[in-house]
Amino acid sequence: MLVAPSILSANFAQLGNEISAICEASCDLIHIDVMDGHFVPNMTIGPVVVNSVAKVASKPLDIHLMVKDNNFFIDLFSHLKPNYISFHIESEKHPHRIIQKLKALGIKPAIVLNPHTKPDIIEYLLEDLDMVLLMSVNPGFGGQKFIPSVLKKVKELKNMINTINPKCLIQVDGGVNDMNIKDLKDAGVDIVVAGSYVFKSDDYAKAIKSLKI
Ligand code: DX5
Ligand code: ZN
Repeated sequence: MLVAPSILSANFAQLGNEISAICEASCDLIHIDVMDGHFVPNMTIGPVVVNSVAKVASKPLDIHLMVKDNNFFIDLFSHLKPNYISFHIESEKHPHRIIQKLKALGIKPAIVLNPHTKPDIIEYLLEDLDMVLLMSVNPGFGGQKFIPSVLKKVKELKNMINTINPKCLIQVDGGVNDMNIKDLKDAGVDIVVAGSYVFKSDDYAKAIKSLKI
């Protein structure tokens, strides 16, 4: 299991130190939640802060867009060469076009599904995706409770992936902790995002290790 701590739960007054700490604690990716106050009822960080994060990060960036205008935000972040940029299917009229744009920029495209969204909607996009992110909370805030129905959805998606594009990874984001990690692993998840579980712990290395099963 790969682990991507979400910096949304970090201490923003100490952000540089927090990024260094999770990199030293053997995280695999750094998950950056970008919210615009329109697609979700919250706002987080924009290019000024993300540029600073990229300077201190020694692990690849995984940018999760929760925005109405994906095109605009991709243009803001593409120069940082993040490993992944994920965008919500619910916010995009032309997902295939966005996928092709990301590929042309050398960024791995990923699509995010909200808790209520069925995986069938991405059947004809799956062959072009490097990752699908299934939300296990409603997007917008850290520290929410895990929605267990995502486990069924992971299994459904895994079947589609095995048939269409076995290289595509499954990521789950929201409420992940040491109590649900085994179920996620058994269902077929490859990468978990964990915000509050990592950053509210006393020992980041221990928390990250407990998810790497
Ligand atoms: C929610 C974000 C998540 C969030 C996860 O909209 O996409 O990445 O920070 O935080 P926890 O792990 O605390 O649910
Ligand atoms: Zn996220």
